[in-house]
Amino acid sequence: MKTIAFFDAKPYDRESFDRFNNGRYEIRYFESRLKAAALPLAKGCDAACAFVNAEIDRTVVEGLVANGVKVLAMRCAGYNNVDFKAAYENGLTVVRVPAYSPYAVAEHAVALLMALTRHIHKAAARTRDFNFSLVGLTGFDLHGKTAGVIGTGKIGRIFCDICKGFGMKVIAYDAFPNPASGLDYVPLEQLLAEADVISLHCPLLPDTHHLINAETLAKVKPGVTLINTSRGGLVDSEALLAALREGMVGAAGLDVYEEESEWFYEDRSDVTLQNKTLSLLVSLPNVIVTSHQAFLTKEALANIAQTTLSNLDDYFAGRPLENEICYRCMGTGGALKANCPRRINGRCHRG
Ligand code: NAI
Repeated sequence: MKTIAFFDAKPYDRESFDRFNNGRYEIRYFESRLKAAALPLAKGCDAACAFVNAEIDRTVVEGLVANGVKVLAMRCAGYNNVDFKAAYENGLTVVRVPAYSPYAVAEHAVALLMALTRHIHKAAARTRDFNFSLVGLTGFDLHGKTAGVIGTGKIGRIFCDICKGFGMKVIAYDAFPNPASGLDYVPLEQLLAEADVISLHCPLLPDTHHLINAETLAKVKPGVTLINTSRGGLVDSEALLAALREGMVGAAGLDVYEEESEWFYEDRSDVTLQNKTLSLLVSLPNVIVTSHQAFLTKEALANIAQTTLSNLDDYFAGRPLENEICYRCMGTGGALKANCPRRINGRCHRG
């Protein structure tokens, strides 16, 4: 029986993976994140399974391979935390779950937007204290406003559809626009200038790192609401904090944070003040921070477990790997490059 070293295991992961595994793999669940210090846990395992905040640099890749791991199954869509060049050079195959529930993430983005727009978080805190005053809770209609969506893949397009349902005008920016989407694509500068709401749905890549920075924030419509459910590194948090203070950004809903790996998914209430920027952001009344939970629905957890296990089935059976990530194709928005061997033999490399 093949063995999986399963890192960063939470109770909800165990439940869904045990349910769909049906005894075909021995799954060793570890609470630790996959990082250099945790490498001994993978010794003798055939596969490793990791999540968004793992730190899979060259040292970890080489350590996994030295421990006998042949395939790394990322149980997430984003892969900015994996050194793919090192994986390719060391013969470590990497697979992922490209979509577990785009609805879950798009709906969470909308939940953040609605809560901020109508001050739901403040109202709930007030009524808990029997304070039923409405002063300071004036919101605005989304109907008739402009949503600017950056990244129009699976999640971004669902977010666009929901916004259209609200009667919003939707404009979009994408490095690889999809003409079949029927979306109104505009240059980034125009989106920044016209949108009342900006929602980020593009991957974190070298060219999208700090896409929202002091320079781009200076070009937004004053009072814009910024929603980020994609990756923290897309936003320069210091610049966002300054823009919130100056009123250029009216509100921010953040499910991700650029230094979240230190904090998210754990109870860190004993050390709140160690990250000054995050402490300031969470303390602002016009900011809502959630802990990278946009994916967390029953449907998404079931899809994550089923797809991860089926990726591993395909790997060990020598079948084509639909969900393999090819480092040479990174930066092409997920499309395979013309010369990628996967076009011919179904795999980026034999692993
Ligand atoms: P996708 O691959 O379907 O769509 C990404 C879109 O971004 C594509 O249309 C692509 O062309 C576009 N893009 C690529 N480079 C760009 C650039 N430089 N500028 C503008 N657009 C660019 O991905 P999907 O499934 O829609 O996911 C989007 C992101 O959501 C993921 O990369 C991931 O980081 C994040 N995510 C967050 C989750 C959470 O729980 N908060 C869960 C799942 C995904």
